[in-house]
Amino acid sequence: MNNTIVNEEGHLVFGGVDTVRLAEQYGTPLFVYDVARIRKNARAFVRTFKDRGMKAQVAYASKAFSSIAMLEVAKQEELSLDVVSQGELYTAIRAGYPMDKIHLHGNNKSLEELEMAVDHGIGCIVIDNFYEIDLLSAILQEKKKTMNVLLRVTPGIEAHTHDYILTGQEDSKFGFDLSSGQAELAYEKIAKVERMELIGLHCHIGSQIFETSGFVMATNKLFEAMIKWKETYGFTARVLNLGGGFGIRYTDDDAPLELDTYAHALIDEVQKLSDSAEYPVPEIWIEPGRAIVGDAAMTLYSIGSVKEIPGVRKYISVDGGMTDNLRPALYQARYEAFVANRMNEPVKEKVSVAGKCCESGDMLIWDVDVPSVTHHDILAVMSTGAYGYSMSNNYNRFPKAAVVFVEDGEHQLVIERESYEDLTRLDRSYENRKG
Ligand code: LLP
Repeated sequence: MNNTIVNEEGHLVFGGVDTVRLAEQYGTPLFVYDVARIRKNARAFVRTFKDRGMKAQVAYASKAFSSIAMLEVAKQEELSLDVVSQGELYTAIRAGYPMDKIHLHGNNKSLEELEMAVDHGIGCIVIDNFYEIDLLSAILQEKKKTMNVLLRVTPGIEAHTHDYILTGQEDSKFGFDLSSGQAELAYEKIAKVERMELIGLHCHIGSQIFETSGFVMATNKLFEAMIKWKETYGFTARVLNLGGGFGIRYTDDDAPLELDTYAHALIDEVQKLSDSAEYPVPEIWIEPGRAIVGDAAMTLYSIGSVKEIPGVRKYISVDGGMTDNLRPALYQARYEAFVANRMNEPVKEKVSVAGKCCESGDMLIWDVDVPSVTHHDILAVMSTGAYGYSMSNNYNRFPKAAVVFVEDGEHQLVIERESYEDLTRLDRSYENRKG
């Protein structure tokens, strides 16, 4: 358990703040982010590239957790920003993000999204498909603007992770296939558009990856194409974007590498391949999401009903669930948890943590060891910072949780809890003339 301690009251302390007091003050469910941890994770990448004298961009994949406060921190840490929608771009605009540091992704970017990106002069658009080339070139022509683009390719790497978060294999909805020559056709098409400046290649091989080998293989595949395109077209890639996917620890079953180990592996491979092919060393861009925010947050819940089926299982139900953390239901993701107000008490029993939704699959944790617990105890589920709040939803019309940032003993609300008024704000009554 990183960046946590236990105080004299036996309470879990996170980022210097008593989590039981946070639950009392802000209510539950509550996401609590330790900003110092976000900074530490960001710096592990940024510093490694700086120390090795590499030109690089570390783009925070804001899909992992996007909010104005989060992007303000990312900006302070000199991160670039990966956005995948108009909503994420709008949040970045509201956070005052430097537009030239923003990269737009998406396998089905809309006309409006592309126009917004062009109007704001973002740093680059990652081209994903042929339709987008046509759309973007028409927009650039009409607005008499230019745009840096990266070409997203699928290198045919199958990272060992959950099927749904595999993205680098050929049979993927993302990007252009390298092996069938599709990527070359895309290159040729882009090269004809004067207003598009192709600055390099992009790939993303998956998420929650614990080895460097997949990244190394992908680097090799992209270099193969880069060398070929240099010979064929005289094109030199200035940027090599290797995506995100760096794994983190959720439970003892996960054995992540140190974040700088991933960066060193990429730098070593890029330098080696550039040297041997006498290719100008490209800038390395990466897009970590989970590795920046995943272990920087926990979710606090209040325990309500406790149900024991003798000899079978004990369920403890909390006041959130798949509405604030869809990952267990969607990917069978596993988490570690602690009873935040009983940290000094010995483990007594194994329980299963149920969410509140009308859905049997709404289970946050199947087996966790806890002291003897009762209603009103506070459960802290660890490492919920990535794809927790960002994938939260209003199933059963539960309002979205609040988010608090803590840093060095200070705490501040950065996303308010949704109210019932918010929940029905967009509803309109049906004035049925026939009724
Ligand atoms: N870049 C691209 C192009 C991506 O598609 C993704 C994630 C990232 C970067 C950031 O990946 P990260 O460093 O966070 O692994 N909802 C799933 C994860 C989906 C990831 C989608 N793409 C989960 O909760 O595990």
